[in-house]
Amino acid sequence: MKILVTGSHGQLGTELRHAIEREGGFEAVYIDIDTLDLRDRAGVEAFIRAGEFSHIVNCAAYTAVDRAEEDKSACAEANIDAVANLARLADELNYKIIHISTDYVFDGHAYKPYTESDKVNPMTHYGATKRKGETALIGLAPSSIIIRTGWLYSPFGHNFVKTIMAKAQSADTLNVVNDQIGTPTYAADLAAAILTILKAPQWVPGIVNYSNEGVASWYDFAVAIVKHSGATCRVQPILSKEYPTPAIRPHFSVLNKCKFRATYGVDIPHWEESLIKCVERIKKGEDQ
Ligand SMILES: NC(=O)c1ccc[n+]([C@@H]2O[C@H](COP(=O)([O-])OP(=O)(O)OC[C@H]3O[C@@H](n4cnc5c(N)ncnc54)[C@H](OP(=O)(O)O)[C@@H]3O)[C@@H](O)[C@H]2O)c1
Repeated sequence: MKILVTGSHGQLGTELRHAIEREGGFEAVYIDIDTLDLRDRAGVEAFIRAGEFSHIVNCAAYTAVDRAEEDKSACAEANIDAVANLARLADELNYKIIHISTDYVFDGHAYKPYTESDKVNPMTHYGATKRKGETALIGLAPSSIIIRTGWLYSPFGHNFVKTIMAKAQSADTLNVVNDQIGTPTYAADLAAAILTILKAPQWVPGIVNYSNEGVASWYDFAVAIVKHSGATCRVQPILSKEYPTPAIRPHFSVLNKCKFRATYGVDIPHWEESLIKCVERIKKGEDQ
């Protein structure tokens, strides 16, 4: 097995690299935008053809959800065109793709966890590009696996956990929305899930949901972050309308993980258990 990991400096890409190195036994090549911009169609083609990979794990994406509302074409180029280019090549060369998608493909109006077959209706440009990336992949490389996830965090890059930990050191009170419900995903757990898929005896194409277990509002999540980081700052619940953002957030984006558990026969950690691990790593300075 020879794996190409894209987006390898990002949150998930970094954790996947750690997981692959810890596991051993895989040959892997790691790239990011500084080594190969996935929008460079010809450059990607030459690199992919020469690489003789068996698998591509696409952790690269345009992920700045609010900026995407203005920067529409850059977001579409990375999340649709680059994915389609990878898909065409992978299908021709018989490489298998694991691609990462998002809970933002849904409108958030549901009242029960989203299954893989629930109706999509993205409310943001980012969500729409990620959905078009999914359909391009399914159309051009039908043997691909797409993992939908949400609320990703890690010791690396920018994310909610690091923001709250930093702000809690100096603020007396933090206002955090409590009317958006989802499930945090520790990128290290998602990286372990990707290894589980790579090592599984059967390759099961299609969409599969993965987040941590449990349910939380951003307010619940912030309360837990403050508690486990040992800060004393107060967290105050507010409504989304009191914290307007350029891109609308789904009110409900909990993902149903029955398919992942049934297909791979593994348990998924609860979000708070994983949060504690991540907070400890950040406190130890592993975020550098
Ligand atoms: N973060 C979340 O909460 C979340 C939630 C649901 C799903 N996801 C999905 O999960 C995946 C991983 O997310 P993440 O949080 O690890 O993302 P991330 O930290 O933003 O990492 C993405 C990486 O891809 C790189 N990249 C962007 N455009 C590229 C291009 N044109 N060519 C090559 N590399 C490019 C980025 O470089 P720059 O930093 O220089 O742009 C970055 O290093 C993505 O598919 C994302 O859509 C994320």
